[in-house]
Amino acid sequence: MCGEEQILTLVELGQRQETANPEEAAKSYLQAADLLLEQSQARPERENEYVAVANKLYLKAKKLKNKTIPGNLLAAKDNKIGFKDIGGLEELKEEIRFKIIEPFRNPDLFRYYGKQAGGGILMYGPPGCGKSLIAKATATEAKVNFIHVKGSDIKSKYVGETEKNIADLFQKAREAQPAIIFFDEFEALGGDRTEAAAHERSAVAQLLTEMDGVDTRSQQILLLAATNEPWSIDPALRREGRFGTSIFIPPPDQDARRAIFQLHMSNKPTNQLDYDSLAEETAGLSGADLKSICEMAADIPLKESFITKKRREICREDVETAIMKVSSVLKQWFAKAQEQVVRMKLEELFPELMLNKKQLVIMA
Ligand SMILES: Nc1ncnc2c1ncn2[C@@H]1O[C@H](COP(=O)(O)OP(=O)(O)OP(=O)(O)O)[C@@H](O)[C@H]1O
Ligand SMILES: [Mg+2]
Repeated sequence: MCGEEQILTLVELGQRQETANPEEAAKSYLQAADLLLEQSQARPERENEYVAVANKLYLKAKKLKNKTIPGNLLAAKDNKIGFKDIGGLEELKEEIRFKIIEPFRNPDLFRYYGKQAGGGILMYGPPGCGKSLIAKATATEAKVNFIHVKGSDIKSKYVGETEKNIADLFQKAREAQPAIIFFDEFEALGGDRTEAAAHERSAVAQLLTEMDGVDTRSQQILLLAATNEPWSIDPALRREGRFGTSIFIPPPDQDARRAIFQLHMSNKPTNQLDYDSLAEETAGLSGADLKSICEMAADIPLKESFITKKRREICREDVETAIMKVSSVLKQWFAKAQEQVVRMKLEELFPELMLNKKQLVIMA
């Protein structure tokens, strides 16, 4: 096969593989680009043309390769979720400002007071209480790009793949800096080394290497992680300079529940709902539960209007009906958490998870 024909074949191969196998497609494009550069030297009269096409193929390959690296990149300019979208949790927002956002913006000031910049923050707590929401909002408040990655997306059963994924992810973050890497379902990745199988341990080791390698003076990468199983995170990852700070994200309290109701009803027509008493009635429910109550409550008059051809506002009764339908997993989660924490003798580390009987009854 002569040069041009071979190049065409490689480009066609790349095009066919783009969706099903982006990594292979990228390889084909890169090979084609290399051949084009070779050809450009042999045929100086067409050099400019060949180099231009080679460049195009090279960029295409780079884009495809990025696609195969775990982690969804959300550019700061496209991130619309901020602290204003989080109901309640005011103290937590302050803590995040002080521990994450400000050190990131004013590293010199923090160093002046002997504070160590860098490291990551681990958020833990029951499902649906705003961990992912907070991570996304933190990126907006800090005006940085946001890379969201799930532990299960990084973890591979093939030897060596997990480490490669982690290294690629950090490379992606360096290219997108300033950026936050948010590790969701962190337990899948940072699970306790003593309990994990041998080849899984290397994920933690690779993560430690990459984290220790993030030099906050030269690199603007922030690390956040979230888990529903804090007890199974490797203690080595919880040390200072790594995920040395853990923050418990609690179920919403009375004020937070009222704020969440107001937020999720703000784009819906309502008939003078008494948010204070609704918040009282929903003690023990998560933010996600409250959101689904608002959605279910809106569905009632919406469906009615198909028949009546009239539009009425959402009323208290609709919300009450929705509240009856929701069943929260919080109580179950706290019971399981307590059992694990006691079994592993970690009560001192996670005092927030040790609810007394009265608190558990409220959630029933
Ligand atoms: N404090 C809050 N204010 C407003 N909405 C909230 C709040 N907490 C939860 N929600 C709503 O619940 C949804 C789920 O919350 P989120 O995904 O942040 O929970 P999570 O703690 O990450 O849960 P999981 O552990 O299951 O990942 C959010 O998208 C949001 O709509
Ligand atoms: Mg989440």
